[in-house]
Amino acid sequence: MKIKKNLPIAVIDSGVGGISVLRELCALMPTESFIYFGDSKNAPYGTKSREEVLKITRENLEFLKQRGIKALVVACNTATSAAVRVLREEESELVIVGIEPAVKPPSVDLDHPTVLCMATPLTLKEEKFKRLCARFSDVEDIIPLPCPRLVEFIERGELDTGELHEYLEELLSPYRDVKIDALVLGCTHYPHVKDAIAQHVSPTVKIYDGGAGTARETLRRLREADLVGDRDGQGEIEILNSSGDEGMIELSRRLLYR
Ligand code: DGL
Repeated sequence: MKIKKNLPIAVIDSGVGGISVLRELCALMPTESFIYFGDSKNAPYGTKSREEVLKITRENLEFLKQRGIKALVVACNTATSAAVRVLREEESELVIVGIEPAVKPPSVDLDHPTVLCMATPLTLKEEKFKRLCARFSDVEDIIPLPCPRLVEFIERGELDTGELHEYLEELLSPYRDVKIDALVLGCTHYPHVKDAIAQHVSPTVKIYDGGAGTARETLRRLREADLVGDRDGQGEIEILNSSGDEGMIELSRRLLYR
């Protein structure tokens, strides 16, 4: 099958999280078209097993392939850890880009930083995260912080509620007396509550996420495969959600354009 340059790029996540990556993709490649598939019916992924997340991701890719796509961005750290290596083997014709916790930027920007990495339990448990930590010898320490309930607040559209702040306090207060230089948002849902998170750490802590880096990597891979679209004008953005709930589409749009 000949893959066409002007087909859309599929962007997938367990829900509205990957919208934080879609925002960066649209900013970098405004003439490309995107199909965003949020799998809120199956969210959260982060407390499931690797096998379950692989199966779900494979099914979602199958559905999107039938729509006609030229590339897949797995805008979910959890699904990337669980599925990307296998999907690349199975779908060698398709450009597949994953996301990983953004440990590299603080290792470049800061001098031997101590990094606190917020992510889902599955992302932090996986081999891929251990390999990522081993790659950055300039980093003093990477402290994993599993946040099992955080995704659910964001899926409910709770971006600044009292309960959210209570949970963030529970997660982050133990690190107040620890020297932390950088905080990595290792789940694509978390940038949607970055302002809330920032209120629970010292203002000297620099906060990173992998959205912009993933967008740059997507463009690099499209160029390499000679798949950059050649249409003029603004690309189209289609947003789908497996829950069938119109409210999730509205929340996705609100997060994309805010
Ligand atoms: N946005 C997903 C990630 O980046 C959230 C996973 C979940 O559904 O638990 O890891």
